[in-house]
Amino acid sequence: MQSLEALLDARVRAVTGVDPEMRPATKPQFGHFQSNVALRLAKQEGRPPRDVAADIVARLDVSDLCEPLEIAGPGFINFRIRSEVLAAAASAILEDAEGGLNISAHPQRVVIDYSAPNVAKQMHVGHLRSTIIGDCFNRVLRSLGHTVIAQNHIGDWGRQFGMLVEQILDEDLDPSTLDLASAEALYQRANNHLKADEDFAMRSRDRVVKLQAGDPQTLDIWQQLINVSLAGFNATYERMNVLLTDQDLAGESTYNSDLPVVCEDLESRGIAVVDDGALVAFVPGFNSPAILRNQRGGYGYATTDLAAIRHRVSDLSADRIIYVVGAPQTFHFEQVFAVAREAGYLPEDVVAQHVGFGQVLGADGKKFSTREGTAVPLNVLLDEAEAEAAPNIALAAIKYADLSSSLQKDYTFDAQRMVQTSGDTGPYLQYAHARMCQILRRAEAEDISFGAVTVLEEPAEQQLALLLSRFGEVVDEVADSLAPHKLCGYLYDVAGALARFYEACPVLKSEGEVRSSRLALCAATKTVMAKGLDLLGIDAPDRM
Ligand code: ARG
Repeated sequence: MQSLEALLDARVRAVTGVDPEMRPATKPQFGHFQSNVALRLAKQEGRPPRDVAADIVARLDVSDLCEPLEIAGPGFINFRIRSEVLAAAASAILEDAEGGLNISAHPQRVVIDYSAPNVAKQMHVGHLRSTIIGDCFNRVLRSLGHTVIAQNHIGDWGRQFGMLVEQILDEDLDPSTLDLASAEALYQRANNHLKADEDFAMRSRDRVVKLQAGDPQTLDIWQQLINVSLAGFNATYERMNVLLTDQDLAGESTYNSDLPVVCEDLESRGIAVVDDGALVAFVPGFNSPAILRNQRGGYGYATTDLAAIRHRVSDLSADRIIYVVGAPQTFHFEQVFAVAREAGYLPEDVVAQHVGFGQVLGADGKKFSTREGTAVPLNVLLDEAEAEAAPNIALAAIKYADLSSSLQKDYTFDAQRMVQTSGDTGPYLQYAHARMCQILRRAEAEDISFGAVTVLEEPAEQQLALLLSRFGEVVDEVADSLAPHKLCGYLYDVAGALARFYEACPVLKSEGEVRSSRLALCAATKTVMAKGLDLLGIDAPDRM
């Protein structure tokens, strides 16, 4: 659905040939929007601004949308949307099966690489952000009709498995009895052992070779470590109410057999060269090469990502690939994309985007970490928020805090502030939604029926309707720019407009057509709130 603002903007643009720079009117008596376009054109043309404004008004036919236009002060043009047009826009949302969203005319296949925790390690705050942000993109793009293919690129391969398996054998542990926390403790023990014991270190290296060679006992232990880790990840996903399932798993090990193929291919075409015993790819503009295979024959993180891109483009037919990974990996992805472009794995018409995000800070403004200086397990954060509020509210608080400022920024994890039902928080938006539900419930209990939004005379209700008509555009913008904070900011504005409407306009205490129209406006607002929160991955309870 197009907003009334955008409709009007396009009409004025067509007549003036320039951006009208429509601004919300500062006072209700000036209408809804104001443009200074005549003042700007007058300067260029050297004519009196009010004359230019009069010319524009004479040529502009917006009578279907607006009351007769007014020229104000030195030459501003004031636009007042007709109240029946506002009412129809609000009703349209209520009647639209998509709740005002614009289903894409060009559906794409979009791969989203997100969450991606590492086996035998608990998910930490970085994975919290990736999971929340990636899930929001997933919901937004799906809702616009795109085919989203989530890819959970878990860290399930690498040299660390040598020491993990060796430690399990040393301790005579049954790996199936581990849970994720005890697997992580095992990881720590193995690491300490490795540093302290040269013989253990050597056995661990040999164990890596056995794993790569497919030794059955080693593979079995490796698989069990994955299983216990997945059980832990899935419990957290369930707790976080995200869309990821085992179907979306495509860990690093998926690409094992592709790694030599990719290296061979890149080397034979001269894109990669052997340098000091290692296979590397130099890319213009980067001062260090991507290492594809080290001197000992081991493949790197970049090689796996190259193989993943190749798979995503050729097998998954991706039109767009989105990576939701912390900002420190920006260089890695830029380099991988550059090599993939050069190799033709990533054709020009396939978009690849790394959405880097900032850190989560503790109350002291420093990187959020445990007393020992290690990353905080994600479940600890969830516990902390749940100590302040019920689970669905605590979760709303965390997700909203994560999504509501520009992703690249760091943000402070302050559970007490985040769960407040006032201010710019998730629970505040949930509350606005629950309030609409409550009014509609009361109307039903009192047998008051309503249909469309028909009369909208009060400025506060008009402003609410105007805002509701922008919902579809806001979501389109989030899909394009991958900036969820725009949706958060929009919903916060809707909640504010709703509060002003509620204050100025009695709903159940009014009568006749005004009452039914206001109830319909409440229902339209509820639709936008519920849909908007759902796109953020936030539950919208009917009661709070
Ligand atoms: N497992 C990595 C980590 O925890 C993130 C992987 C991101 N995705 C990728 N395709 N490299 O940092």
